[in-house]
Formats: sequence, C-alpha cells, structure tokens
Amino acid sequence: MSSRGPHVEDPTQKPLALIGFMGSGKSVVGAIVAERARAPLFDLDLMIQDEAGKSITEIFATGGEHAFRKLEARLLPSTLQPGAVVALGGGALINDASWAIVAGRAVTIYLEVPFETIWSRISKVSGRPLASGRSHDDVESLFERRRPRYEQALHRVDGDRPPAEVADEVIKLWSA
Ligand code: S3P
Repeated sequence: MSSRGPHVEDPTQKPLALIGFMGSGKSVVGAIVAERARAPLFDLDLMIQDEAGKSITEIFATGGEHAFRKLEARLLPSTLQPGAVVALGGGALINDASWAIVAGRAVTIYLEVPFETIWSRISKVSGRPLASGRSHDDVESLFERRRPRYEQALHRVDGDRPPAEVADEVIKLWSA
C-alpha cells in the first residue's frame, strides 16, 4: 500500500467511517482524506439532501426528525463501499441497527472535540435543526447523551486541531 493511504482500486479495503458530534469536522476532514487517498467520498448529509431534493432544515420542517432519520437509515448502507471515505451525520449511529452495520463493515474513527470548541463552531451557523436556536446547555446534554456511542469507535483522534493535521492521523489509522 502506498504511503498516501488506501487506494480506490483496493476492493478489500474497508471503508472509513468518520463519526462524531455536529461540528467535529467529519465533512471537512473526510474531504481532505478522500482527496489525499484518491478515494471516493460519501457525505451522508449531502446524499440525504440530494435524495429528498430539500435541505436538511426543510426535511425537518416538513417531516420532522422522524422523516430525516428514515432517509438517513435507508441511505446509510449504500455509503459503505470498499475503499470509500464516509462522513456520517452526528446522529446517524444513534440507532443501534445502523451502528451494528457500520461497526461491522467499516473502520470507525471518532473525531473527538471538546464541547466548547463544538459550540463555538456550530452556534453561529444555520442549517442544523438540532442546534439552531437551542441553548448551549441543551446542545451539550445532547452531546453527552451521544458520547458513549461515539466512544465505541475503533479509533479516536483529537479533532481539536487544524483539519489537515487531523486528516494525517486519520489516514495513518485507516492504512494501518
Ligand atoms: C444531526 C447532525 C447533522 C445532520 C442533521 C442531524 C444530528 O450532521 O445529519 O442536522 O442529529 O446530530 P452533522 O453532524 O454533519 O452536522
């Protein structure tokens, strides 16, 4: 295997699943890793929006969280292609069945970021219905409820660093 990391043509390479809370850098780090490894990138939130023909905010507004989770769970398995990089939404693995699928098929890496950093990243940006307009303490308690699931990942990396550095470490773990 080349030092640049997994290659798209390796059919035996497990997909890489980046997990973590909103604002932990899954999409940004995923894009860097995919580019460096020359691997396909599946960003589940983008796929959901394509499939629905609506933004995440609109999906939540019209069908509620339930409609969003149904689409998310339906599209999730199709992201787990050999050699692919998969950036999952922060709530995609809360469902035990989805977790079992991803944990069984992918190399899971948790981008671990302290809540205060997360809050500084997400509190000023729109487009996340489970964060927009909510208080610091409400979002922090959602984070704490989900943390045990994220910590079940095979690996953890410190995500409180520039994305290129996080991506370096992720590639090493994925290639190991
Ligand atoms: C969600 C996280 C979002 C998106 C949706 C719900 C969540 O993805 O899937 O708004 O439940 O944590 P990011 O983690 O990429 O922001």
